[in-house]
Amino acid sequence: MTERKKVMLPTLSKKVAESEPITFLTCYDYPTAYFQEQAGVDMILVGDSLGMTMLGYDSTLPVTMDDMIRHTQAVRRGSPNAWLIGDMPYMSYQPSVETAIRNAGRFMAEAGCDAIKLEGGAEMASRITGIITAGIPTMGHLGLTPQSVSALGGFRLQGKTAPQAKKIADDAKALEQAGVFAILLEMVPDRLCQLITERAQDCFIIGLGSGPHAHGQLLIYHDMFGLYPKFKPRMAKVFGQAGKVILDGLNQYVQEVTERQFPQPENWFGMPDEEYDQLIKMLD
Ligand code: KIV
Repeated sequence: MTERKKVMLPTLSKKVAESEPITFLTCYDYPTAYFQEQAGVDMILVGDSLGMTMLGYDSTLPVTMDDMIRHTQAVRRGSPNAWLIGDMPYMSYQPSVETAIRNAGRFMAEAGCDAIKLEGGAEMASRITGIITAGIPTMGHLGLTPQSVSALGGFRLQGKTAPQAKKIADDAKALEQAGVFAILLEMVPDRLCQLITERAQDCFIIGLGSGPHAHGQLLIYHDMFGLYPKFKPRMAKVFGQAGKVILDGLNQYVQEVTERQFPQPENWFGMPDEEYDQLIKMLD
């Protein structure tokens, strides 16, 4: 494995100061984390989107802390040096400040995270303050927040009207004041993302489907490589058809086994005659 220096907050701040975009991807397993480490991805999010991409649920809501910890541990083993962020699943922080601190602490103590992310605006400020006071760097998440998809009316653009956009901008200020190191803006108009990015003083802004002006870009790994069969969001660019490569390979496997073309001698191990003859005698 190529060694690189551990990404830390000053590494990310330096990039922002030098106007160099931050790279940020979701990841849920060891081999993918290994490749992301090789590619030099700055930040990795073990998103609760794993409920949909890895576990096949229709939403992120059924995901548990134990699901998150197991996947995050695997990702940390594959990528020791990315800035690793654990995504707080539904109801792991909403009930109380204490619940939020305990579960955020699990990501750090059990999974080797560098930070956590949670969804929500000003109403989550007390949770964020509590977690940060416990020494855990925290990322906010505004715009399309999948844990509230029912209240938001579906997976759709947020902040379309001026009053809705103002609410998101106000929430971004509230999160910054609460001390987040970064805010993810998911599916908001590009100009709103630009305004919030320009106004951010003590945190950096990451965009997902929110235009080019943020300090960094997040993509969902499964969308990048055609690995999620149910849909491809418009905001995702497909960087490779890995899903098609895998399906073609599986079809070929089924065909070759059925037609007895696989396995071939290079795929199995023989036994010397002498051992074989002795075995036959022993079995008689
Ligand atoms: O769970 C996740 O991957 C996320 C992204 C949708 C931002 O929170």
